[in-house]
Amino acid sequence: MNLDLDHMLAQTEKGQWSVDELDWSAPLAGAGSLSTGERREAGLALLFTAGLERQAARIFRLAAHFADDERARAIYGHFDVDELRHAEAEIRLARRYGVTWNDLPLPTRAMFKAMSADLERNDRGVHEFSAATIVLFELALDGILIPTLKESVRDPLQDEVFKRIDQDEARHLAMDYWLLDRKGQIFQAAGRDGGLDHLLGRRSLPRRILGRAQLAAGFSVTLMAFAAMKPVMGSLHRKVTEPAVVRRYLARVNAIPRRAQAALAHPMFRSGLAGQRYILGALLAAAGRSPRLAAYA
Ligand SMILES: [Fe+2]
Ligand SMILES: [Fe+2]
Repeated sequence: MNLDLDHMLAQTEKGQWSVDELDWSAPLAGAGSLSTGERREAGLALLFTAGLERQAARIFRLAAHFADDERARAIYGHFDVDELRHAEAEIRLARRYGVTWNDLPLPTRAMFKAMSADLERNDRGVHEFSAATIVLFELALDGILIPTLKESVRDPLQDEVFKRIDQDEARHLAMDYWLLDRKGQIFQAAGRDGGLDHLLGRRSLPRRILGRAQLAAGFSVTLMAFAAMKPVMGSLHRKVTEPAVVRRYLARVNAIPRRAQAALAHPMFRSGLAGQRYILGALLAAAGRSPRLAAYA
């Protein structure tokens, strides 16, 4: 995949905006048809999204730290700021629904804490895994959560926030594809073990096992946090698992190798894909829908 990094950097710099440019005193509009419970759900979903945006900020901070190209480093530095801005905007939007951070279920807050602790270390393994899989999270945010929230409430301020976020996210996705493709090419050239040695250095067996265990632990914490969101998400949980929404998301996931041609050569991307299919299946089953993803093809 070819990407003009000079152009991307210029566009990223031009696209910067501030939450303070928006008028936060505007009262929430278009939520009149929502019950008190549904308003709360919408607010919690915004906070959940904000929690994910903060993780994305850390992932980009790591990508900047390990970038071998000056322009990529500068772009990722801006993306870090973008994601923190998105989180800030979503927390402010949630406040208009009367919901604040501590209203999130404890396991969910605990997941965000655990994820941050992992991402806070400048660990090459964490970087490589997150760089290989962030596209799956960004597509989920971009293709599932935000459109669902947009459809639930037609609030001009919220629409404006999401419009700006979308513009930033289009650049993030382009860089996600670019990085995934570059990493995948390493595996195409060196094979699975050679590629891992290239990215992570030669590791002893105990270190390899530890790396796997950390990955599995992170994965189960994520699953628990999603499960904890279920009772507080109520009707929103049904909306995000609508067959049409799932179909659209999976179509974009399946199209990743068209953008990042070497993606499937990357074993961490394939693990992420398996994990994401597992989480999606669990979410679908919990909503009383078929967990067989083939049913949404
Ligand atoms: Fe974002
Ligand atoms: Fe993003």
